[in-house]
Amino acid sequence: MTVRCITTPIYYLNGAPHLGHVYTTIAADVLARYWRLAGAQVKFLTGTDEHGQKVAQAAEAAGETPQAFTDRMSALFLDMTKKINSSHDVFLRTTEKRHHEAAQALWKKLEEADQIYESTYAGWYAVRDEAYVDEAEVKDGKAPSGAPVEWMEESSYFFRLSDWERPLLDYYEANPKALAPIGRRNEVLSFIKGGLRDLSISRTKFTWGVAVPGSSQHVMYVWIDALTNYLTALGYPDIEGEDFKTFWPESIHLLGKDILRFHAVYWPAFLMAAGLTPPKRIFAHGWLVHDGEKMSKSLGNAVDPFQLIETYGLDAVRYFLMREVVFGQDGSYSEAAMVQRINSDLANDLGNLAQRVLSFIYKNAGGKIPQPHEFSEEDREMLARAAHLHDTLRDDMEVQALQAYCVHIWEVVADANRYVDAQKPWSLKKSAEAEDQLRMATVLYVLCEVIRHVAVYVQPLMPEAAAKMLDQLGQEERTFESLQEPLKPGTALVEPVPLFPRIEKV
Ligand code: MSP
Repeated sequence: MTVRCITTPIYYLNGAPHLGHVYTTIAADVLARYWRLAGAQVKFLTGTDEHGQKVAQAAEAAGETPQAFTDRMSALFLDMTKKINSSHDVFLRTTEKRHHEAAQALWKKLEEADQIYESTYAGWYAVRDEAYVDEAEVKDGKAPSGAPVEWMEESSYFFRLSDWERPLLDYYEANPKALAPIGRRNEVLSFIKGGLRDLSISRTKFTWGVAVPGSSQHVMYVWIDALTNYLTALGYPDIEGEDFKTFWPESIHLLGKDILRFHAVYWPAFLMAAGLTPPKRIFAHGWLVHDGEKMSKSLGNAVDPFQLIETYGLDAVRYFLMREVVFGQDGSYSEAAMVQRINSDLANDLGNLAQRVLSFIYKNAGGKIPQPHEFSEEDREMLARAAHLHDTLRDDMEVQALQAYCVHIWEVVADANRYVDAQKPWSLKKSAEAEDQLRMATVLYVLCEVIRHVAVYVQPLMPEAAAKMLDQLGQEERTFESLQEPLKPGTALVEPVPLFPRIEKV
């Protein structure tokens, strides 16, 4: 049985969700839905990262207690997941008791393995990134990310990250697929080769965090706490539990390139040190760029996803984000590009194909999936192209090539539109020859079969629109497996309505 555990990063609560957050969650949702339809056993994890100095400061600025503030802000993120039709299985908050217990259990494992020691930390810290910054990387009081840094000097526990240089390199060498895309992998490897220093993993200057076991003064550094969420959600420390045993070995972490180092260096080191296996795969996607800069709350250039959904519809926004940007690279967002995609790919290509074929059958060809007669060479080729999607799309999803997934489906849509133009079922209808009527039925059958394949594979991208398309086709079976059986003639169509109206503005 295929098993997949797909995760998003857990989101900081210092501001409302923006399009950048929505992007990762939709990508994870598309993968989770795909694998479920492929018959896999799937766990999809998301949630909110609620501790740390940044969140504590945001709560203070809002005049609220951290607990009240995080309750309110986490609800916004939960609401966001609902508005984008996220099919996650777990929404984890790091303020939950089970998470405190899991983080403390991991800490104790590291302590038992002699991987933690107490010393003093003196150095630069970027609160906005919740990251330590090397002296050499600080320029004009800022981290390379542009976040302001502050000098920190305090008693701290350290993790022996320096012990893990060799094991990490060996691990990535032995597991070439564990880190993608390739450019990011190279970056991480050269960072590790540059030498790893022990990592400060506790703080004493504030209290909003998971308490370090056995210490009344220290709370855990927010990243060790946050990364543990992936384990908590699977029942850690119960590593013999069903969820943990089934899903942890199949975990795929999706995350933005800005937090790759935490996931690809610190996290596997913590895990190996605690006797656990690293995640099976880490995939770093790029940034959505707006006006030339990373979209972010702090830069004030973030796009409100809810506004977009309101204007263009959820499925169009989901499709746009997956199709417009190569997953793994940066992509620029603009409303004009969005309108262009909706009009060309959705209204003209897919919408028009479904609409003209289905309403023709509904109104002029009996309202049922026609009975095909002899297939011509062209028919067989068209059917073969649709059938071939099965393997092509699986290959895409195995490597999280979400844009390629869209492109490959739309190639078949374009083929089908060309096929309609060449076969001209409407002209055949007008013919008095009985043979032409049989030919028309065959052509329309082929088109229905192609539309069914396309709609089934579009489900992960646009769940609602695909469901409507399959309703119109009268299809109840919607898994990939169900496509192995040829489309049954005679099934009544439901009156087709246009699914993707053209947008006339911009
Ligand atoms: N809390 C940490 C993650 C801890 S995971 C153990 C965090 N949170 S975040 O809210 O700042 O970012 C969450 C995710 O959103 C990251 O993967 C980040 O890359 C992504 N994005 C934030 N802005 C983005 C864009 N403008 N474009 C694409 N993704 C972006 O980091």
